[in-house]
Amino acid sequence: MLGSKTGLPDSKPPALSISPSKLKEGLMQRGKTRIFLVDVREPDEYADWKIDGSQNIPIDHLITPKGLRQIPKDAEVITICAHGVRSSQAAMFLRQKGFNAMNLAGGLAAWNKVYDMAPVPLNGKDLFELLQVRRVGKGCTSYMVCYQGQCAVIDPSVHTDEYVSAARKHGFKITHVMDTHQHADHVSGARALARAVGAKLYLNPLDAYRYTDFIPLKEGDMISLGDGGVAIEAVHTPGHTKGSTSFLIQRSGVLTGDTLFVEGIARPDLRNKADEYALDLFNTYRDKILSMPEQVTILPGHFSQQVKMEFGKPFSSTLKDIRRRIPLLEASKTEFTRYVLANIPPKPSNYESIVRINKGEEPYDPEAFDDLEEGPNRCAVKV
Ligand SMILES: [Fe+2]
Repeated sequence: MLGSKTGLPDSKPPALSISPSKLKEGLMQRGKTRIFLVDVREPDEYADWKIDGSQNIPIDHLITPKGLRQIPKDAEVITICAHGVRSSQAAMFLRQKGFNAMNLAGGLAAWNKVYDMAPVPLNGKDLFELLQVRRVGKGCTSYMVCYQGQCAVIDPSVHTDEYVSAARKHGFKITHVMDTHQHADHVSGARALARAVGAKLYLNPLDAYRYTDFIPLKEGDMISLGDGGVAIEAVHTPGHTKGSTSFLIQRSGVLTGDTLFVEGIARPDLRNKADEYALDLFNTYRDKILSMPEQVTILPGHFSQQVKMEFGKPFSSTLKDIRRRIPLLEASKTEFTRYVLANIPPKPSNYESIVRINKGEEPYDPEAFDDLEEGPNRCAVKV
């Protein structure tokens, strides 16, 4: 139960708001408590970005008798908006009407900082540990590959404490940090994390960074953990960006970043060279990705709401299943590039500023990132 109903006389009034982490706990135990998520923003805002499983009842409609009839009396009702202002008014209104309503404190901007970890079972799981770290609201995925006390973190977000505390909890030291590419939809935490823990930072210089305190990555580089028993191989997979690099782990799993998703393919347009990058992408799929074993597990850097994300459970797909789902991967060069260029989604919010920060052209100021990172990830072309 999310509220303060303990069965004992309650001297304090029930909470008016719920923190994002408490809401996550509640959603993980959904079988025990009925939770009704009501997003009170306008339909266009809701269509753009939402919490999976929420219902959209704009606040102007919610306060009408018809709107109220849509709210279940027997559920814990959580009201949601962008920053928790409109939803706070909605929660107060619902409480006056006798509903068990609470406001999601800080709204979607705060939900954007909720993380969930899921161990990934790969062949060789006895040898090393692989954790999929999901930034639930944003749909960003990072990974931690851990072996003999050492840990490599791939694609960390700005909330670097999440990785530090996960490594500590599992008894590992973060020794290597890398990004699959220069991100455009969220600020990378890679450089900050590497500095904070004294780890080596690896980036592909083809993505044109303005700083040089990293080890340049290139095709075929091997990053070894522990006594070298676990190797992470860099595979240059350009198309989303020039320097996009996938990481093949023990030849059984591949971290594809934004090159290949379980439900879509990379977008080639965020560096304003869509025609050239779409061709790179075609070559990457033909020459690099499709030549991998069919049973290799694809572990991407993002997930959309098409992916059923369950707390504590990893999402992934074999290359074989992705090939079956996305026949475009095996289309001719002309068909492929024509489709990709005709189906480019809207640009991510603030992507030009985010790229400048990730390049090192603008200051890294985590205080300013909440607003900058609002909205879903938009790195995929849907197929
Ligand atoms: Fe990306």
